[in-house]
Amino acid sequence: MTTFEDLKTFISSQNIRVIIAADAETVVLEKKDGQVSQRLLSGGVSVVLDPLAKASSAVYIGRSKTEDEKEIVGKGETKIEGDRGSYILKRVYLENGEFDNYYNGFSNQTLWPLCHVAFENPAFHRLWYEGYVSVNKKFAESIKNEIKGDTFIWVNDYQLCLVPKFLNRPKNAVIGFFWHIPWPTWEAFRILPQKKEIIESLLMCDFIGFHRGYQARNFIETVRREFEVRVEEETSKIYYKGHVTTVKSLPLGIDTDVVSDIAKRDKKEGTLEILIKKILRTDEERKNESPYIEYFRKYKVILGVDRLDYTKGLLLRLDALDRFFENNKKYIGKAIYLGLMAPSRDTIPSYKALKDAVEEEAEKINKKYGKNGWRPIHLIYQTFSREEIVDFYLHASLCLVTPRDDGMNLVSKEFVMAASFSKNPGMLVLSQFAGSATDLSQALIVNPYDKSEVVNAIRRGLEMKREEKVRRTRAMAKVLEENNVYKWGVDFFQNTIEARQPQR
Ligand code: G6P
Repeated sequence: MTTFEDLKTFISSQNIRVIIAADAETVVLEKKDGQVSQRLLSGGVSVVLDPLAKASSAVYIGRSKTEDEKEIVGKGETKIEGDRGSYILKRVYLENGEFDNYYNGFSNQTLWPLCHVAFENPAFHRLWYEGYVSVNKKFAESIKNEIKGDTFIWVNDYQLCLVPKFLNRPKNAVIGFFWHIPWPTWEAFRILPQKKEIIESLLMCDFIGFHRGYQARNFIETVRREFEVRVEEETSKIYYKGHVTTVKSLPLGIDTDVVSDIAKRDKKEGTLEILIKKILRTDEERKNESPYIEYFRKYKVILGVDRLDYTKGLLLRLDALDRFFENNKKYIGKAIYLGLMAPSRDTIPSYKALKDAVEEEAEKINKKYGKNGWRPIHLIYQTFSREEIVDFYLHASLCLVTPRDDGMNLVSKEFVMAASFSKNPGMLVLSQFAGSATDLSQALIVNPYDKSEVVNAIRRGLEMKREEKVRRTRAMAKVLEENNVYKWGVDFFQNTIEARQPQR
């Protein structure tokens, strides 16, 4: 198993300065009553990049998420320290309007729907692209200011496609790009008006990583159809205008140590208790005080943990839950669905509309089946800390991860890892369209569009014998341990450095 120390040793043996640039900021600074507080993000890509930045003592360039930060740190930097290492966090600030065009516009209403097969139409506006160009330039400038000696530049995800172009192959630097979302087929990608500029920029990297083989293959096919390139099949190298870019799939893993540590800790009654009291107690129940854990004993909790995003298949999931209660009346009053939805991109019209639609659908199902104070669907629209989420994972009877399309999906992996510490683990029902379905083959794999398949999997998961759940969960946890985030980190650094070497 690859460890944090292995990654650290690998980086120091390379004698290379590491710069990571990502839209995601790892630590958010906020000011309240004159006091500055640091908020660590609890999920997503930044959680993965934080330990990697520590292991490589990186300079991390992220986009500032709060107005306060400009005032608190301005052009300065924040040193992020942890038990195992530290790194420097620098911020890129956006002007008025830039955020809308770069983030809400081109990143999340053009590229995001274009790359996910979720049947959400991408929108194309020149102004959005101009905003995207100027923010990518800003990132590139910040990176350039940090290049000193041999440097490894890690450009992270679809928000920063044009950064390699604006870096313009700096001397003594090697550039690795990790693309975390799916890459669609050429037939889908070709409609993007700025496709050539984007692909040419990506081809200025030494290495491009995707989570899964089909995503890397789609990328190579897109490049082949758009440009006169030579592709060396055996090594996945693309030769274009005298430069070589290696393309590979490197599936992202989770920090199994951190999840295991949290799962093993003694739990105090905290948020989970408050939440359960709030949502599950009927007037009658309130009369009989009992610890929150009783509610997980009393009800089979079917859990959902997602960013509120149309790619996550939330409406399809609610539809399947409706059918589940209709066909399995014995679960009425006995099982509940607890959907934890993290707010995301909430000023974009399609995200707002989805929130309304999800709430409306939940209400409909609750009206249909609710009785004696029991309601089947409980939706909570907020973010939780990592500790709290692991607590939910440990107690749930089932976890539904049913995206329409997903580059990887870390919730499914963290759920399995946490559940492997439970005496009676919950079962994972996982969409075949999540990148993680390849790694988590012992989960109940479903097509989220096939309602009866999802309904059957929910029932099967709830009724599966404890021994079988333990066996499946442990087998998957082993795979997760072997392929953890540190292995992914070493693989990415190593592949990028090797991709560059022949030209040095
Ligand atoms: C996806 C993307 C990441 C992004 C995350 C959160 O996982 O691949 O790049 O950081 O979503 O998105 P948000 O827009 O809410 O920061």
